Amino acid sequence: MKTVPFTFELAGPDFVPSTYDNHIQRRLSAMKGQYLDQAAYAAMLAEGDPLLYEVYELQRPTVAGELLHGISIVHPGLVGDEYNMTKGHFHEVLETGEIYYCLKGRGFMVMETPEGETAVEPLFPGRVLYVLPRWAHRSVNASLDEDLVTFFVYPGNAGHDYGTIEKQGFRKLVVAQDGEPAIVDNPRWGQP
Ligand code: F6R
Ligand code: ZN
Repeated sequence: MKTVPFTFELAGPDFVPSTYDNHIQRRLSAMKGQYLDQAAYAAMLAEGDPLLYEVYELQRPTVAGELLHGISIVHPGLVGDEYNMTKGHFHEVLETGEIYYCLKGRGFMVMETPEGETAVEPLFPGRVLYVLPRWAHRSVNASLDEDLVTFFVYPGNAGHDYGTIEKQGFRKLVVAQDGEPAIVDNPRWGQP
């Protein structure tokens, strides 16, 4: 980990950082219970375990004052009618926000608070999104032929709570309807 100020490049077409400390790869098997069409999920998994998304992290100490940052790349595809997406999470320290800057692709950030407010914001190159403290967030790639690439930065002490979303899902889903993305209520919210 660097102990002096540092720089790196984010260059197209893939935007993988010119230097990074950690490369996370999440496959279909990591998304158990998250997709609405569980039969389609099981059928796909029987055929293999495709890579759905990747994260390149510039690691920093996980303390308040540091800023964790990196790149998230969601590959295109569908599971049933639902677009490829990240697991999604609340921050463990709920009162911590996050900034995303979209570099490539077309998608949505699906968000909600513990109190039940929801928001779904489009992402496209040049778009900056501020995820307020308390809002769980999930990136969805709404393109079927291009990666969704975002740069993110959040407080070092934020931590991640994946369990709440794993248990109850998000209230809103992004699905393909007649070839176009549509935002719908999750009929299985609270009971995945
Ligand atoms: C960090 C953050 C992003 C996500 C990344 C992958 O707080 O929001 O770096 O971690 O987009 O998504 P998850 O972590 O939900 O698998
Ligand atoms: Zn986050």
